[in-house]
Amino acid sequence: MKKLCLGVPRKKAQGALMTIRENKLLSPDIEIVEEDGIVYIPLNVSGPEDLSKTISALGMTAIKDLAPLHRPPKSYKDLLDLPPDLQEELPSSFDVIGDVCIIKLPSTLMEYAGRIGNAILGANRSLKKVAMDGGVKGEFRLRDLTVIAGDKNLETVHIENNVRLKLDPSLVYFSPRLSSERLRISSLAGKGRVLDMFCGVGPFALTVARHSEANEIVGIDLNPDCIRYFNTNISINSVEDRVNAILGDARDIAPTLGSFDRIIMNLPHSSLDFLESALQCIHEGTIHMYSITEGSSIMEEISRIDSILKRSGRDHSISFIKEVHQYSPTSHMMVFDLSVTA
Ligand SMILES: C[S@@+](CC[C@H](N)C(=O)[O-])C[C@H]1O[C@@H](n2cnc3c(N)ncnc32)[C@H](O)[C@@H]1O
Repeated sequence: MKKLCLGVPRKKAQGALMTIRENKLLSPDIEIVEEDGIVYIPLNVSGPEDLSKTISALGMTAIKDLAPLHRPPKSYKDLLDLPPDLQEELPSSFDVIGDVCIIKLPSTLMEYAGRIGNAILGANRSLKKVAMDGGVKGEFRLRDLTVIAGDKNLETVHIENNVRLKLDPSLVYFSPRLSSERLRISSLAGKGRVLDMFCGVGPFALTVARHSEANEIVGIDLNPDCIRYFNTNISINSVEDRVNAILGDARDIAPTLGSFDRIIMNLPHSSLDFLESALQCIHEGTIHMYSITEGSSIMEEISRIDSILKRSGRDHSISFIKEVHQYSPTSHMMVFDLSVTA
């Protein structure tokens, strides 16, 4: 694009640019270029005669062929041009795990999935792959993922709370939405033993190791891929002396590991079924139990917890309840901190 510019020696360019800006004469959205020690600043005027004396004293005018300034789009939506009713259905947010974007699309947008994936990559330079989320399923809580743009291999490294987590989200469960919850648990843990009964690739266990003085942290998971990545992550984060990974069923393994001061139970659809096993390995301490509850059923969940604890003959109180995040339009993921004594 041919543009009238002011050519200024490099040493004077910064000051000249300030003056041009103050006089509102800078042409927006056009690149500033340098050639042979002269910086050419594009001007927002129709001819040299429009320049004030202050500006023309800074250098000489020239007509240059300049490129439009490259500004990254504000949102991936700016890179798409779908029919207006569909454009409105584009999701406003998505999860990011390392360099992988995970997005839920309504059925009406399925045929545009590839274009949507490429737009997300175009608007977010740090992302390399986009996968469509078909929901979490089965005992291992695996996400049904279909790659819609970028590299098909979904293995990545996610960093949160100064902890590095290597994982493939199609082989293991991982949610980046719990990072502040993991930090909360770490802030409560003192010296002592911590058990994560459903540890996945180790985000809770490794955050506790990084941010607390806990002497020993043990994580159990039924999914061999989780334990493989957890062992890798133990070594990436250099905490081999304090963190151990065990493959197997928490119901059988937990009661064989001795007594813990703190137990994390993040299997939100069925944590209650494992509460009795957890009680077998805590003498006095805290259980952090995660649970999915429909809006009105929080009181029912509290009474279910109470009755299991009463049946076990243990003194207890529910010391903290919080909504961790919304799970569906009608349900929430809650955390219940249970203080248990002998
Ligand atoms: C919701 S994920 C939580 C993973 C991890 N705590 C996190 O925050 O990323 C639940 C995990 O429990 C594991 N799991 C399911 N049943 C189990 C059992 N009986 N014993 C041990 N782990 C189990 C699954 O394989 C899955 O990795």
